[in-house]
Amino acid sequence: MAVRIDPSILAADFANLEAEIARVATADLIHVDVMDNHFVPNLTLGLPVVESLQRVSPLPLDLHLMISDADRWAPVYAETGAYSVTFHAEAAADVVATARRLRQIGARAGLAVKPDTDIAPYLELLPEFDMLLIMTVEPGFGGQSFMQSTMPKLSRASEAVAASGLDVWLQVDGGISEKTIELASAAGANTFVAGSSVFGAENAAEQIALLRELARS
Ligand code: DX5
Ligand code: ZN
Repeated sequence: MAVRIDPSILAADFANLEAEIARVATADLIHVDVMDNHFVPNLTLGLPVVESLQRVSPLPLDLHLMISDADRWAPVYAETGAYSVTFHAEAAADVVATARRLRQIGARAGLAVKPDTDIAPYLELLPEFDMLLIMTVEPGFGGQSFMQSTMPKLSRASEAVAASGLDVWLQVDGGISEKTIELASAAGANTFVAGSSVFGAENAAEQIALLRELARS
């Protein structure tokens, strides 16, 4: 099974983002958390920073938009050349139209759900998406505890993806570490966002290798 490790720069030193991305060069993607202080009670970074990261990152950018009015803004973020753009189901009026716009622009289309949001209605729309993000914490902050209560939802999504025969990635985000990654992997995740556990490690490359190993086993 393909396993992707996706360090979240929310846990990196924002004064040195280019160097921080270089520390995690053995990862597969760079997860970029965009927050608007409206959809979530926190503010991080927006288009200018994403555009700058796009220029310096050797790894593909995986944008996680925790912002309101996703129908309007997700395509604008895709226009930066981002590899993948994930928007929240709770923030979009028409998830299918927005996903189609993202693909037209050339980005992978990801759909995220918060811990209390049901995934079932979206599993009927699987062909429209390249990735589903099952949040394993309430979005807004790094360093929170993994919510094991989200695992049945992940398993359900995993079964639906397997039954569809489609290569829709299943991503988890929040509290992923050497203590929790095996649980998420067993429930069907294959794309693992890890903020504090990677950027907080003394040797980020070793931590990435450890997470990769545990996710595969
Ligand atoms: C939370 C963000 C996460 C966050 C994860 O709202 O979406 O990507 O950075 O951080 P950790 O891995 O520290 O839980
Ligand atoms: Zn995230």
